[in-house]
Amino acid sequence: MTVSVYLSGTGNVGRNLIKLIFNKNLPVRIAGIENRKGQIIGDSISLSQYNAFMSNPHVFPKKENPEDLKFDIFVDMRTASKTGALEKDTYLKMFESGKNLITANKSGLANYWKEINSSMIENNRKILFEATVAGGLPLFSVLRNSMNGFQCSYFQGIVNLTANFVMRMMREGHTYEDACSLAIKEGIGETDMSDDLLGIDSARKAVILSNAVFGQSLSLSDMKFGGMIRNSKENQMLLVTIRQNEEFYVQSDIVTLEKDHPFLKMGPMAMGYLAGFYNRSTLMVSEDYDGPVETAGAVLSDILSFESIR
Ligand SMILES: NC(=O)c1ccc[n+]([C@@H]2O[C@H](COP(=O)([O-])OP(=O)(O)OC[C@H]3O[C@@H](n4cnc5c(N)ncnc54)[C@H](OP(=O)(O)O)[C@@H]3O)[C@@H](O)[C@H]2O)c1
Repeated sequence: MTVSVYLSGTGNVGRNLIKLIFNKNLPVRIAGIENRKGQIIGDSISLSQYNAFMSNPHVFPKKENPEDLKFDIFVDMRTASKTGALEKDTYLKMFESGKNLITANKSGLANYWKEINSSMIENNRKILFEATVAGGLPLFSVLRNSMNGFQCSYFQGIVNLTANFVMRMMREGHTYEDACSLAIKEGIGETDMSDDLLGIDSARKAVILSNAVFGQSLSLSDMKFGGMIRNSKENQMLLVTIRQNEEFYVQSDIVTLEKDHPFLKMGPMAMGYLAGFYNRSTLMVSEDYDGPVETAGAVLSDILSFESIR
């Protein structure tokens, strides 16, 4: 069965998702595409219509509110807002008008989890957010589909590449400025890296994980967190660590790892996590590089698995 989507955001992730959808001839109908500059809508937008839009989005001014259109899923690949209020408002409008949500943008969920979840339940809708915590590295789909017989008791992960990359480059002798430029050159750093380097991005991910996997109801304002440090040691990394024993514990900060910790053997652009379970051995999932193509793949996987959870 074909699923219809409205795509919001045509940056690194959005463009790669659209490429994947067109290249693979998938049962996905694009009912709308928007960015900050414009919007195209249609029954099923073609590649040539999309190319015309992208070559000059200004000549396609926004005419319709997406909540007034007909489609199954609103896909949020917009820039993350600082407070998440913009995202929350969009999502509530989508649920109230009968749409479901897939997001790569973590700001709404990290700041307004409770409100978004309540509205989703009240309106009998669904949210998938595979790309929000580990980009293209499979995480929620693994826990949901492969580990659903076990309860997760522990998570530790490298969920922010930029901060760890910059710290590593500085240990190798680069200045802070050079390390940041290198991160941009390698495609893992955004022009404005402040959210990454201050630890806000990692903390947002810690909130989403705590809520989605460990049944908490946190928001970013509940988190104390740390960011990158300029004089890090060989075995220090910015990590998210979550433990559920008798008490729930969450941390997003610089951690000093034991010398033989598997994360220390990973490359400078690798992403990875350890997940521990009650009554089952620990799982480690990693990849050498994570960028917008990988993230777009995670969004696409959410779109394609949507039918099975509808
Ligand atoms: N890049 C990654 O590998 C990665 C990994 C995991 C998660 N994410 C998340 O995925 C999202 C997209 O990332 P990206 O790298 O693709 O960002 P990006 O290249 O900066 O693109 C952002 C897109 O959002 C659009 N946009 C911003 N505000 C909008 C609004 N109010 N209405 C409609 N469109 C709006 C921008 O429009 P204009 O083109 O008109 O400026 C642009 O097309 C972000 O939230 C990011 O944190 C990214």
